[in-house]
Amino acid sequence: MTELIEIINQANYDYHTMDAPSISDQQYDQFLKELISLEAKYPEYKTEDSPTEKIGGVVLSGFDKVTHRVPMMSLSNVFNSEELQQFDERIKKVVTDYSFVTELKIDGLAVSLTYEKGLFVRAATRGNGVVGEDVTKNVKTIKSLPLRLSEPIDIEVRGEIYMPHKSFNQVNRQRLSNDEALFANPRNAAAGTIRQLDTKVVASRNLDLFIYTIVNAEQYVKTQKEALEYLSKLGFKVNQNYQLVFGIGALINQIEDYDRLRKALAYDTDGVVIKVNEFDLYATIGYTSKFPKWATAYKFQAEQVETVLTDITFQIGRTGVVTPVAELEPVLVSGSTVARATLHNEDYIVAKDIRIGDTVLVHKAGEIIPEVIEVVLSKRTHQQPFKMIEVCPVCGKPVIRKEGEADHYCSNPSCPGKNINILIHFSSRVAMDIDTLGEKVVETFHDLGYLNTITDIYLLKNFSEELKELPGFGEKKVENLLVAIENSKLQTFDKLIFGLGIKHVGAKVAKILVKNYPSMELLEKATFEELNSIPDIGEMIAQSIVSYFADPINLELIEELKSFGLCMTYEKGEQIEHPFNNKTIVLTGKLQIFTRDQASDLIEKLGGKVSSSVSSKTDFVVAGEDAGSKLKKANELGVKVIDEQTFKVMVDGLY
Ligand code: IVH
Repeated sequence: MTELIEIINQANYDYHTMDAPSISDQQYDQFLKELISLEAKYPEYKTEDSPTEKIGGVVLSGFDKVTHRVPMMSLSNVFNSEELQQFDERIKKVVTDYSFVTELKIDGLAVSLTYEKGLFVRAATRGNGVVGEDVTKNVKTIKSLPLRLSEPIDIEVRGEIYMPHKSFNQVNRQRLSNDEALFANPRNAAAGTIRQLDTKVVASRNLDLFIYTIVNAEQYVKTQKEALEYLSKLGFKVNQNYQLVFGIGALINQIEDYDRLRKALAYDTDGVVIKVNEFDLYATIGYTSKFPKWATAYKFQAEQVETVLTDITFQIGRTGVVTPVAELEPVLVSGSTVARATLHNEDYIVAKDIRIGDTVLVHKAGEIIPEVIEVVLSKRTHQQPFKMIEVCPVCGKPVIRKEGEADHYCSNPSCPGKNINILIHFSSRVAMDIDTLGEKVVETFHDLGYLNTITDIYLLKNFSEELKELPGFGEKKVENLLVAIENSKLQTFDKLIFGLGIKHVGAKVAKILVKNYPSMELLEKATFEELNSIPDIGEMIAQSIVSYFADPINLELIEELKSFGLCMTYEKGEQIEHPFNNKTIVLTGKLQIFTRDQASDLIEKLGGKVSSSVSSKTDFVVAGEDAGSKLKKANELGVKVIDEQTFKVMVDGLY
């Protein structure tokens, strides 16, 4: 067994760290199989550094908190050469003889790894920098992670977990075919994966890891360059694109080379990290409360890519809003393929004078949402100005634009385009949680005539035999679907209200409504004045609720749902489980993934309240980059601090 462990670990190292396979895949599989069966037979001889640990298989119940022995700081950012020069000037003021090491800034999530006597014992996420989460079991599945180092030392090292493009595309392809929400980019995919409870799933996602720092490095070596060399020697995968540079001029030149280089890499990078090489200068150069002053991150410009806008199509939302969508010739933007981008509304297109056939510049707003920035006018030929459609592309009835609103609506109350979205919304996880009834399935059933209205969802069981015959369905899938539909009858009253898709009634308003009107009968009878007098319910919402219940079609739907046994009363104490529910949350610092408005919306949707100042009543502080006094206060008061990445994970799937 010892011999097998050595052979397999060496093969893993050669393949995943050195990119130089030393044995064939068949040999590898054979050795691994042999070790697995020996370990099953003689579990007492199974060792901590056994490569079978990388296969995963345990299902975790959660992640313990870990307090970092040395806090995990982040880096200041610079965005151009002037700012880089200023960074250098500040150093020059306090020390004279220094050089820089430049490294690629890998776009993933930071992790800290602890080894004792050369054996891997623990991995922790960055968390808020002070307290992270124990993700040892998940990190163990990363193939390039050495389980035993070449020296039997105690050491803590830090690096970046990332998802290579190849794995990212594989994962998203699979999610697409399972009708699951796609990951927006490799960083989100890596962060989401590392918080998976099923280690087998983690193992299947092919995460990878670059190590770039030794904690208390000066105890081992004298410079960052030596640290990187030593890390390699210990068996870690170190990104080899690092360089030693002297002087700011050479530094600036190098960054341009890095920007070219990174486009050809198999993983995402978002900048270059610049570190003073000599450790003995660090104390003199010093630290701010969050950053070392001896390092910074040069952030690359978010990618802007040219492509052709081949068409403008229209999507009908569940409230009937008609949204124009840019159909693009697919292009790779910041790590994923973009083929569509929202054009928001008529005014947006007219203001930018976007026309079908134009060459346009696209980017990802906040690195996530594809957006058309502008038309490349020099490439315009004979494109015709855009004209808003007059009839709904789905039902052919007129679309109308109401006074004072930017959006157009389909005027047909039973437009099937709208219906599909109502059905998708109704069954979504945040509403009635019929998880097997996703977008694709709804579309298929709708096209085949099984689903038109919400009522039809509960009548699907009458067609179970037919559904089982449909391509891609079968016995098991249909049974699961019908069970999920039955279970949805137990969803709480507020989820049902939210699921009905009443305009302006989000998850939070639904919760307020059920507290004030604990049964459907009471809510149906609510008047405009009554509703409007409830704090947080304005005129627009009140009007929309009254109109909804004034419509006989809606009342009939509710009667039918009642007859199916859906829950239409509010039980006190019945609350959603989300940690933000009923909590007060403060946003501070620069958020990179969300805008402030998006983050506030999400919190409110989840039942939380956003406040602008930190006090003992604050439940969470979401700290972006450069968070200052509010973060400090939160730490003083012992308020829970989460970073944006954690926030993102907590709200995942809800936007
Ligand atoms: S050094 C004292 N080196 O960037 C800070 N960080 O904004 C130590 N990152 O949290 C970080 N590649 O997640 C360092 N070569 C690299 C990096 C790197 C990516 C990430 C890391 C860190 C963030 C800082």
